[in-house]
Amino acid sequence: MKPVSVGICGLGTVGSGTFNILKRNAEKISGRIGRDIVVTQVGARRDNPACDLTGVDVTRDIFDVAKNPNVDVVVELIGGYDVAKELVLTAIEHGKHVVTANKALIAVHGNEIFAAAEKKGVTVAYESAVAGGIPIIKAIREGLAANDIDHLSGIINGTGNFILTEMSQKGRDFGDVLKEAQELGYAEADPTFDVEGIDAAHKLTILASIAFGVPLQFEKAYTEGISKVTPQDVKFADELGYRIKHLGIAKLTQDGVELRVHPTLIHESQLIAKVDGVMNAVAVHGDAVGDTMYYGPGAGSEPTASAVIADLVDLARTFDADSNARPAHLGFQPESINNIGV
Ligand code: HSE
Repeated sequence: MKPVSVGICGLGTVGSGTFNILKRNAEKISGRIGRDIVVTQVGARRDNPACDLTGVDVTRDIFDVAKNPNVDVVVELIGGYDVAKELVLTAIEHGKHVVTANKALIAVHGNEIFAAAEKKGVTVAYESAVAGGIPIIKAIREGLAANDIDHLSGIINGTGNFILTEMSQKGRDFGDVLKEAQELGYAEADPTFDVEGIDAAHKLTILASIAFGVPLQFEKAYTEGISKVTPQDVKFADELGYRIKHLGIAKLTQDGVELRVHPTLIHESQLIAKVDGVMNAVAVHGDAVGDTMYYGPGAGSEPTASAVIADLVDLARTFDADSNARPAHLGFQPESINNIGV
């Protein structure tokens, strides 16, 4: 079968992880799906020493990738809002499928992007945008498709959970741990997104849109971060047998879907209180299945890249690179929105 030709835009933390895993596990991946996934072009402002780019077509202009007639799927890993949006819309306009890890982009501009993709008959897939390596979008969209989901909640920012854990277990200083999270590649380019709850609100917006079939409405989420949590708060909570965890909570109410992210006191006996470090966990309740919970690394190069490649694998399994046919189970389903107010 014809290989799937991929263009990677951005060679930072997640881009380098994606490039390296595709290379390292190429045989395993193609063995699983029955076709090769080939990186045809990389668009990056500069090379990354973590990647061996020998023999790879590298361009400094990411828009070359979006317009490259030999690329089937554009992988957007540059982050941010404006350039990323232009890149994704250009790729769609040129008939490319898009895989993105950009939760800010999807939460804020997703409705417009999905409409453009729908019109063009291409897919925009974003498994890696939420909860790093946990396949939570696939779990909700497909695994729980039979269910009426009434609430979901979880730890969906790895940096924030890493900071709270280190403060609680080692009495470390907030700023020090944040610096380490940045060095480990967990934090956003602008870490205020992590510590002020914006990143978690982006992710919650995306999860809610899939779980409840509502449009993406990031501006409606109540957003509070962990920047005001003091070492004393953490210490007193610990003494009383509680952990402070930053949660995203989405609930179906009579008035619509309630979205909120904020620090929460959780008794140490609860499963979610034991989710430490960069790990994320998302609990979803469905009427048929009951309570479910999904756990795994919420940030970092290869865990996030693992989810990027999961989308590539999904695309590769179902789309015909010659005809660009759209796989029905991926991406946005516009007919499913607007049935519930937020
Ligand atoms: N900054 C994000 C986090 C990266 O810490 O969760 C993964 O989305």
